[in-house]
Amino acid sequence: MPTPEQSAQRYEHYELVTGEDEKPIELGRGAMGVTFKVVDVNLRCPVTLKVISERYLGDESARLRFLREAFGRQWDSVQEFFARWEANSERDFAGVFNKYYNLQEFEELFRGHFRDFLLGQIDQEASQKLLNRKVRRWKSSPFRGLNVFDFEHARIFHGRTRAIGRVLEALEAQVRAQRPFVLVVGASGSGKSSLVRAGVLPLLTQPETIEGVGLWRWAVTRPGAGGSGGHCFDALAAALLEPSALPALQDPESQNAVRDLGSELREHSDSVALRVRDALDHAAREWKIQRCHSLEEKERQLRSSGRSDEADVARRQRERFELPKVRLALVDRPVGRIVHNWFFAGGAPEVCLCA
Ligand SMILES: Nc1ncnc2c1ncn2[C@@H]1O[C@H](COP(=O)(O)OP(=O)(O)O)[C@@H](O)[C@H]1O
Ligand SMILES: [Mg+2]
Repeated sequence: MPTPEQSAQRYEHYELVTGEDEKPIELGRGAMGVTFKVVDVNLRCPVTLKVISERYLGDESARLRFLREAFGRQWDSVQEFFARWEANSERDFAGVFNKYYNLQEFEELFRGHFRDFLLGQIDQEASQKLLNRKVRRWKSSPFRGLNVFDFEHARIFHGRTRAIGRVLEALEAQVRAQRPFVLVVGASGSGKSSLVRAGVLPLLTQPETIEGVGLWRWAVTRPGAGGSGGHCFDALAAALLEPSALPALQDPESQNAVRDLGSELREHSDSVALRVRDALDHAAREWKIQRCHSLEEKERQLRSSGRSDEADVARRQRERFELPKVRLALVDRPVGRIVHNWFFAGGAPEVCLCA
């Protein structure tokens, strides 16, 4: 329990800073409230805390005005911070800030700036160093002919940045509306499958592309895969049993895993949805165990080579490690009934779909 004195000096994780006269330091006083200097004990840095006057507490329009003014002040501080940073960038920082509104603009800005950066490096006679660096080269032909571009072709898939951005934005909005489904429509051969498989999926499955989601599994439906003989439920079953998806869904007793899961999907898709949820929880736990093991190993190696500060960082990382939120992405050739049961009837909110 905090003593009355302590609780008077502290509000949630803000601690009042007192002056020489032991009184809280006031930074300003207005009609609506008083602004104090406080320390954010989590961030360990001074911040300002504005306390609204009691008489405005029940007044909704005053409360909204207060929030608007606070937001305006924060916005001004952010702008000032960046202006100061940019002004100093010649001297102190190598970075500047650029605004972009979509993925395509980001790509164009990045391409231009990165080219300038490389030219700068070459001017500084670092060219030899750059040339000696290991580059991951694409060994086979980058021309896919009539074949689709798949997840593993992401590095040679180009020219669809704007469409990728639009699909990701649409999916994000759909996730927020708890309807995590996006349909990509176009003529046969217009590049829908390539767009979602080689463009959207490799970005989507990075942690935090969809806010809060730290781990992804993904199932790409391929007609005729795994002996599915062209049946759509069997093709979906084969995709779900792939290593990138949830091979744990396989019934160990089953003689023909694809066909059995295919019939279960056809007849009891709700029960498969429950098993998908369990398998995703299991995948998240497994992933956490693996990450903790590798951090433990890293810590051990750092300690044995006398780098105890870095070892402490690895230990703290491991101790703070939380179970990631995990999602399954179903991609390409949706099966109508599964789309209805899992995405619109609320059967499996852990699944996102693009097709
Ligand atoms: N961004 C791209 N650049 C070059 N070729 C592409 C691109 N996207 C798709 N293709 C080619 O177009 C053809 C059709 O692609 P696909 O993804 O199968 O289309 P869809 O699913 O709409 O039928 C394939 O030959 C594929 O290699
Ligand atoms: Mg296709």
